[in-house]
Amino acid sequence: MTNTPHAMIELKNVRKTFGEFIAVEDLSFSVAEGEIVALLGRTGAGKSTVLNLVMGTLRVDSGSIRVADADPYHDFRALRGRIAVSFQTDRLLPWRTAVENAELGLLILGVKKAEARRRALDWLARVKLTGAEDKYVHELSGGMRQRVSLARALAVDPKIIFLDESFSQLDHVTAKTLRTDFLRIAKEYGKTCLFVTHRIADAIEIADRALILTKGARIALLETITEESRNDAGALTALHDRIAAAMGGADDDDEEDDREAATP
Ligand SMILES: Nc1ncnc2c1ncn2[C@@H]1O[C@H](COP(=O)(O)OP(=O)(O)OP(=O)(O)O)[C@@H](O)[C@H]1O
Ligand SMILES: [Mg+2]
Repeated sequence: MTNTPHAMIELKNVRKTFGEFIAVEDLSFSVAEGEIVALLGRTGAGKSTVLNLVMGTLRVDSGSIRVADADPYHDFRALRGRIAVSFQTDRLLPWRTAVENAELGLLILGVKKAEARRRALDWLARVKLTGAEDKYVHELSGGMRQRVSLARALAVDPKIIFLDESFSQLDHVTAKTLRTDFLRIAKEYGKTCLFVTHRIADAIEIADRALILTKGARIALLETITEESRNDAGALTALHDRIAAAMGGADDDDEEDDREAATP
């Protein structure tokens, strides 16, 4: 009927309460195939709750969610191997080496050992970890650990990637190169991505669209981020200011980071 890209993630009138508390009031949005969408908002806005609903680890009170044409809560098994998750901490297993961690998802999905090893090594190379394959977790820096975690997530060739502030514990330079690499990979392989952050600069750098949530996961602002607005200092500042205003003013830390990022 239309040539709108296929929605890979779709929420319609989603409501989620915890007892009397309304965490998500009435949320509708969709993410197209291959699109990267950032969920922004201050602490308690409901970002992680929304992500958990979309991942199927929480169940909606009412409304509906479709992820790759499945209900993520009820058809959890249908989504096995099609979604990947990367969290704030790397969640690696300390008694396994980098490559043994990277191949874990594949082994769980039943991929044969030799094939899993080959694919894990490929992905370690793509996230620039050649030479570190046989190092144990304690021998890796925080940034390298995040790269192993990303390699593990991407090795299963998921259609959709969920990230919850995966880059926020790293220093600026490490976080920036990791974001750049992640974006390159996500775009190159046409991954659909929904990622949670409270940092405006992260969203502007990576996302095609930014969804700013306030209390009750109400949409305060929806911004489409273009390459032009990233490259034009004036447009970038204006975009940053609109998002900050929608969030109710940025945190001090973030403002500092964002000013840095906004300086061409
Ligand atoms: N299991 C739960 N039981 C009760 N209340 C909850 C539960 N999970 C979340 N909440 C509440 O729902 C609101 C939204 O929480 P959520 O974790 O989604 O926020 P967030 O936007 O991810 O915040 P942050 O930036 O701090 O991670 C908060 O007020 C929180 O206290
Ligand atoms: Mg959260």
